[in-house]
Amino acid sequence: MALTRVSADDVEALQAFLHEADLTVAGLDAPTVRLWVERGEDGAIVGSTGFELSADHRHALIRSVAVAPPLRRAGAGVRLARYALAQAHAAGADRAWLFSRRSGPFWQQLGFTPADRDELASVLPLAHQVRLFTVSGQLEREVAWSRALDGVRGQPDRRG
Ligand SMILES: CC(C)(COP(=O)(O)OP(=O)(O)OC[C@H]1O[C@@H](n2cnc3c(N)ncnc32)[C@H](O)[C@@H]1OP(=O)(O)O)[C@@H](O)C(=O)NCCC(=O)NCCS
Repeated sequence: MALTRVSADDVEALQAFLHEADLTVAGLDAPTVRLWVERGEDGAIVGSTGFELSADHRHALIRSVAVAPPLRRAGAGVRLARYALAQAHAAGADRAWLFSRRSGPFWQQLGFTPADRDELASVLPLAHQVRLFTVSGQLEREVAWSRALDGVRGQPDRRG
């Protein structure tokens, strides 16, 4: 299945998909957030992936990686996560970060290790999830993960 870059027309359906996956939906239409979706034969979203870059483009907050429940545990999640890592690296980032309270083992097999959530917030202060979690007080309950992006390969999405 092909990944397509999310446009304004996709945002409402993506919001519903991420809501079902219990992921945050803040900033889906922000210019700093790059997202892709995969759709099934009926046109419904079956997977999503993306990231938000820091102002200096050195850091990427991986976000919105989700697979429709019937399609899980078949490798799609790893493929979608790797795509976001490659795109973030192609966009100039040398380190990826993310928040995940429930899917630590999934991220660990992708090379992520536990990170300091305050350090994440200090390198990506304007990221929508960071702002949301800071305002709501949820930041201190979040679990942060990080990995270097050396060695990650990918062609930049033509829409940059
Ligand atoms: C996390 C998620 C994207 C994984 O997608 P997936 O398609 O099931 O992942 P994969 O099939 O590529 O998983 C590969 C490996 O990751 C590990 N893994 C995947 N989901 C896991 C889970 N929930 N708990 C522990 N390990 C998990 C397993 O080792 C798995 O290999 P296995 O099936 O051979 O044991 C999916 O469960 C999901 O959409 N969850 C809800 C949204 C979410 O939490 N996203 C992450 C935060 S951004």
